Amino acid sequence: MPVKATTHVQAMSAFALANFGGFDRPTLAQNESAFPPSPKAIEAGRVAVAGSHLYPDPDWTLLRDAIARSYGIERDLILCGAGSMELIACTIAAFAGPGADVLGTDYAYNFAASPAARVGATYAKAQERGFEVSIDAVLAAVTSATRIVFVCNPGNPTGTRIKNAELLRLRAALPGDVLLMVDQAYGEFDDQDPQAVFALAGRGDTVILRSLSKAYGLAGARIGWGLFAPRIAAEVRKMQNSNQVSTVSLAMAAAALEDQAYMRAIVTRTADIRDRFAQGLRAAGYEVPESRTNFVLIRFADAAAAAAADSALRGVDIIVRGLSGYGLTDCLRITIGPQEVMDRALRILGALRDRQCW
Ligand SMILES: Cc1ncc(COP(=O)(O)O)c(C=O)c1O
Repeated sequence: MPVKATTHVQAMSAFALANFGGFDRPTLAQNESAFPPSPKAIEAGRVAVAGSHLYPDPDWTLLRDAIARSYGIERDLILCGAGSMELIACTIAAFAGPGADVLGTDYAYNFAASPAARVGATYAKAQERGFEVSIDAVLAAVTSATRIVFVCNPGNPTGTRIKNAELLRLRAALPGDVLLMVDQAYGEFDDQDPQAVFALAGRGDTVILRSLSKAYGLAGARIGWGLFAPRIAAEVRKMQNSNQVSTVSLAMAAAALEDQAYMRAIVTRTADIRDRFAQGLRAAGYEVPESRTNFVLIRFADAAAAAAADSALRGVDIIVRGLSGYGLTDCLRITIGPQEVMDRALRILGALRDRQCW
């Protein structure tokens, strides 16, 4: 008899090392920052390397202090992980299992489907309306099997946001035994006051997740954090491996958080490039939802037009993300890169559009 993975795992497909062009050159496919991390973070990482013979602090003490200071929140509510992906996966593993539903939305970051499948839970999706999360549709999709509701704000791959008041309405209307997970990986790009949503964590039925991969430019360091009430944190920590976040990453993240001015400057520069790019695309006739992130979604006339744009961009060394995994075969998602690259992308897409009009 050959060894066998569990039936849940056999039914899954592995993360495909998609054709992003190789990891040695930057692409516009992964929503990474167009800019390097703060020089202070780079220096802190350099210094921390010398302590690599020791295991990292499993309680992330200095990083939690830095997060608490930077975001004005209580340190004891904070858990850290190797990217917010780890926290998403561990929360799902702790609160869902066979027979349970994890309810996302049409275009909620579909990574969440994978940890749900791993534990034998079903990943269900509430319909979005016009690339925006509809709180009414989410509430209508909740069943007695729903254990977790997962929403992204702002969303990936749409880039759109849910108003804080709508999120509060969602929480108030959900049953108390349904855990609400709010993924705010792009939260620093949203100008809404975060405190109203952070405060939901204190209820003991809501988790708020953040990432240093986007606004802080630390995708390669793998740092995420979140707000977890003690009762929830106790369960999630059982699912986490200790020492997941390296000493170097902890040091880089703490220093990056202390340099809020650098992060804000990067967010502003990225948003400026994004808004000019999006306006150019709209002027060329493309549908582009308003983005509150470091990427834009572009809808083409049909799947063939999206595929043609994808290959035209590849022709000038620009790799973007197709969205067939979300059923959006007529769309592409383009991360905001340096101005010169976005100008090149706009020229190519504008020319394609002109040709289609003829
Ligand atoms: C909505 C959303 N959540 C979470 C993540 C993963 O972030 P991290 O790098 O912190 O694991 C991403 C990455 O693209 C994302 O788009």
